[in-house]
Amino acid sequence: MAKRNYSRREFVRQNSLAGLGAAIAMGVSPSLLANPKPLSDLPAILGGQKIRTKSWPKWPIWDPATDEERVIQVLRSGIWSRAGVVAEFEKKWAETIGTKRCLALVNGTNSLITALVQLGIGGGDEVIVPPYTFIATVAAILQTGAIPVFVDTDPETFQIDPGKIEARITPRTKAILPVHILGLPADMIRIMAIAKKHNLLVVEDACQAWLAEIDHKKMGTFGNAGCFSFQNSKNIPIGEGGAIVSDNEAFMDRCYSYHNYGDAYGTVIGNVNSDTLILGTKLRMTEYQAAIGLAQLKRLDEQTTIRNENAAYLSAQIKAIPGILPYRLYDKVTRAAFHLYPFRYKKEEFKGLSRDQFLKALSAEGIPASSGYTQLNKMPYIADAFKTKNFKLMYSSDMLDYNKYMEHNQCPANDTLCEEAVWFEQSMLLAGKSDMDDIAMAIDRIHKNADKIKAK
Ligand SMILES: Cc1ncc(COP(=O)(O)O)c(C=O)c1O
Repeated sequence: MAKRNYSRREFVRQNSLAGLGAAIAMGVSPSLLANPKPLSDLPAILGGQKIRTKSWPKWPIWDPATDEERVIQVLRSGIWSRAGVVAEFEKKWAETIGTKRCLALVNGTNSLITALVQLGIGGGDEVIVPPYTFIATVAAILQTGAIPVFVDTDPETFQIDPGKIEARITPRTKAILPVHILGLPADMIRIMAIAKKHNLLVVEDACQAWLAEIDHKKMGTFGNAGCFSFQNSKNIPIGEGGAIVSDNEAFMDRCYSYHNYGDAYGTVIGNVNSDTLILGTKLRMTEYQAAIGLAQLKRLDEQTTIRNENAAYLSAQIKAIPGILPYRLYDKVTRAAFHLYPFRYKKEEFKGLSRDQFLKALSAEGIPASSGYTQLNKMPYIADAFKTKNFKLMYSSDMLDYNKYMEHNQCPANDTLCEEAVWFEQSMLLAGKSDMDDIAMAIDRIHKNADKIKAK
């Protein structure tokens, strides 16, 4: 694989011509004009020349020169189960996020389950959650025995709509599980105020939100616990991996104990005759995973800056195209993670060209994009959970009436969002500004030829 250098210096150099020169010429949306390629030619899907033949940055990034030494050391040491390297990764991640403690685990899903269980959430409880998320968020709630209560999405930000949370609180509500989906922060200031007013716990699903911030405070540090994922596509890719962060020492001791069979740890105190103190399981990260994580962590800050710069630049390029509505960040967001770059596609502004046709036309231009999440509040896994032995023991048949549950958990704004969303992957945001221009040109070209593409 060709080695790519994503140094900030190179990024600035690479982009200075298109960015600066064109900005002087054009103002807000500068480099569409500065780019020498014609905009009005035939779309690639209709046989025209592709806007882009160049490949996009590969993911994950692995540089043998800087990344392999530590991993090889671990492999040669024969100490592969949890030991010093995992502890080092935890210390670094806690420092990076700004919490007292971090516990590394096998994945983000089990980080969420562990945090929820150790905060005392279980059968009989309700947990408020957005429907615009990855399945693992909701599955984690069901795994504890609690019932997910969906709050509709704010389509402009793609996040849980804070204005709709209070209406969904009942005497059974125990926690809010906001998700900083796509790496864009949910409105934690309003969410924490609601949680405080109603005495609710907050577990942040920050599985896509490494280094994202509101008012320079990192996501994952607002609630009682923050959970992260380091799965292969993530901005810190380890293959699999997860973490819980918190300042609450006793809670973190319990999480540690739980992830290690329930054995004594910290304030979870035992003695030689009765070491296994709480109901636990085994969710330990390995030493070689932690070594990979340490290598990836070194680049995260710089990559996050580049993603933020490119996302803002791309938004400025495409927001004037009718029917393209880029994400909005809440006012106090100082940094996002941009695990994905999202916008809403309004087909009525594209002569009725369906999102599917739009995505195919984009792909033909050399711009890969996807349609994102489906309606998670309407999938069969919830009905399946309601049919299990455990749920039948924990809840009345009235509470497990699925039709009634569905009626109460409609999320119309989310339904529309799921039909309109378009995503670009985070690794595309590590390219240069001229690559962002390619995206803008492709969308513009499709917009100008929407009727012809639709008639194809
Ligand atoms: C929002 C969200 N929550 C939870 C998870 C679960 O993380 P993992 O895949 O590491 O179990 C993911 C990752 O895929 C995610 O994107």
